[in-house]
Parts: sequence; structure tokens; C-alpha cells
Amino acid sequence: MAKPISIQVWNPNGKYRVVSTKSMPGTRWIRLLTDQDCRVEICTEKKTILSVDDIVALIGDRCDGVIGQLTEDWGDALFSALKRAGGTAFSNMAVGYNNVDVGAANKYGIAVGNTPGVLTETTAELAASLSLAAARKIVEADQFMRAGLYDGWLPHLFVGNLLKGQTVGVIGAGRIGSAYARMMIEGFKMNLIYYDLYQSTRLEKFVTAYGQFLQANGEQPVTWKRAATMEDVLREADVMNHVVNTKELEQSQRTISLHPVLDKTTYHLINKDTLAIMKKEAVLVNASRGPVIDEAALVEHLKANPMFRVGLDVFEDEPKMKPGLAEQKNAVVVPHIASASKWTREGMATLAALNVLGKIKGYPVWGDPNRVDKFLDEKSLVPAACPSIVNAKQLDLPVSKL
Ligand code: GLV
Repeated sequence: MAKPISIQVWNPNGKYRVVSTKSMPGTRWIRLLTDQDCRVEICTEKKTILSVDDIVALIGDRCDGVIGQLTEDWGDALFSALKRAGGTAFSNMAVGYNNVDVGAANKYGIAVGNTPGVLTETTAELAASLSLAAARKIVEADQFMRAGLYDGWLPHLFVGNLLKGQTVGVIGAGRIGSAYARMMIEGFKMNLIYYDLYQSTRLEKFVTAYGQFLQANGEQPVTWKRAATMEDVLREADVMNHVVNTKELEQSQRTISLHPVLDKTTYHLINKDTLAIMKKEAVLVNASRGPVIDEAALVEHLKANPMFRVGLDVFEDEPKMKPGLAEQKNAVVVPHIASASKWTREGMATLAALNVLGKIKGYPVWGDPNRVDKFLDEKSLVPAACPSIVNAKQLDLPVSKL
């Protein structure tokens, strides 16, 4: 007989059974559910990644909704188990949902929630941290120091890239990409080149206004360009829209940050060929999803180009790294922590719980999933709505008028 899965139970007599596959930060999310007559069961198994069988066992015979994690494989097996148990709601505690087969959820009439609107700045801050750490060799220098190797200041010791006046490239200028761009432009006075299918008018206006401000104060203005192709962002020789003189263009190094969603069109967007068109001293950052980069090709590129630097929050075969990556000193690697600020993680837990609760209670779907302040403000009443349901249209769910 299979070993029972260990759980922690809140409000044992609650009418609706909601399962969370992991303990999540904060307690507000639990309170919001128990206040609305939910019995909350939190899986306390020690293993980090639960298998489909583990989650089927957690769902059991009767379950109204599940809060799950991006490490889990939410496909036909789990949605059919949830349907059989009488469930109607699932939410990822994540903005990305490439671990979810939304078609399978539609087949079983199960709503799929995600948690946009609360991760933007936190994720952009981590991408900015990786950019700085990679450009200034911070991790390598830290390891050198701890190893007791520092025996005095030297002119060549850990010389890295200056960001000011260089060009930041952003691939995918949605909410997170735009927030990252603003940090790099405002903080380090970098010029912007971006590629996105949609024009980011707000971002362009921001750069223009900030450039005018700098110029009025006697400083070099920052500039922007919307590239026609992704390759234009990567390529060494493309010309900035408002580049003031050629000398500046020659000196300009690239810091490129990837912020697309992962789908068929963005799988291995960065590969042997696209790496080859990047500057030899570029900094590449990825805090989106691992498979956007062909990681084996990246390892080869890092080996061949010691001045090329990379900052990675995500990996192709997460939690594993491709062979050779860990040995590369020109790579800064962190374990998928882009959204890991206390405020954001507690907010994600709240939004995921409210997605599930809202569907169980038959609430409509919130009009703008990116404007979720009302759900996060602890002092006011939570709106009677699901903050973000990605298959609302397919399931024909009503939209809130609030
Ligand atoms: C984190 O990677 C998320 O998608 O929320």
C-alpha cells in the first residue's frame, strides 16, 4: 500500500476542501480560505518536487480546489483526478504556467489561475542584480576573497564592465521586461534597444522624458530604439536610434535580458547561432524560463568567450544545470529566486488562494489581472472575484464589474 502523504490541516470542519501542494509564505492566504468555510490541507512531505501520483493521492476522493507549484506537471492525469473528486479550481502559485496543460483543464471544466501583478518589480530587481553581478564579477570576487586569495589591491583585479552609457537590450518588453529596462536606464543611464511584438509606448515615453531631463542637466541623454527583429538586439553592429556619436557606438557593450513567455516560438531562442552574433563581452541575463536558452550551446559559448558573461535564474533541465555550467566562472547562477521577496511571495500565495476560492464560490473573474492591489491590501475587504484565471474565456466565466 502506498505510504500516506503527510499533511497539515486548518479548519477541519470547513465545507470546501482546498489542498495546497506546498506550504506557502505568510498566513493570510490560509485565513482568507478558512474564513470562507474552507478546510485547508497543506502537504508537508519533505520531498521538493511532488510526482503526479503524490498529487493524485493528495486530491483523494473529494477535493474542491488545489493550489499547486510550477515544478508540478499539471496535465490530463491531475485534472481528471481533480474532476473525479468534484473539483473545479486549480491555481499555480506563479505567473508562468508552462507546467500546465490548459487544454486538459478546459476539457474537465477546471479553472486555471496564475498570479500576475505582484511579481513585476521583484523579478526585475533580480534580473538587475544578475546584470550587475555578472558585469562586475561579484560572485567570482566573493569566492576569491573567501578562499583567502586576496593579498593586496591590484590594477587588474576583477576588472569588469561599466554599465553607464552602454546599451541594455530587452527581449520581451512586457511588464517585467519594461520594469527591468527602467531600472537599468534610470539607475545606470543605459541606452535601450528592445524587441517585442507589441510597441511599448510607455517605456519609450519614459526614456525620451528621462533623456530630456538628463540633457537639461548637462548630462548625456539616454536613448531608445525598438528593434525590428530579436537579432537586431543581439547583433553587435546595429545602430541606436539616437546615438550621438560613433565613438559611443563603438564602445557600447550589450547587457541583454530575456523576458519572453516560454512557448514553441521562444524555445531555444538563444542558441549557437544567436550567441554567435552577440558581442564577445556581452552580459546575458535570463530570469524567464530555462528552455528559452539552449544551455548546452551556452556552456560552449562561455568556454570559448571568457569575457562573455551570463546571469541565470532558470535552467533548461531545472533543477539540474547542463554539464560544465557550474565550472564556468563567467556564469552567475541562482536557484529560480526571481520572485523571492517576502511581499511578493506572500502576495502570490494570496492571489493563488483567492483564484481557487473565487471559483469555488462562483465569483466572477477580475477585469484586469495586473491590477491586483485591492486583493493585496490587508486593510480593506477583498473583492468577491478571482484575481486571474487564464482560461476564463474558454470556460465562459463572467467578468467582474467591480
Ligand atoms: C516564477 O517563475 C513565476 O512564473 O511566477
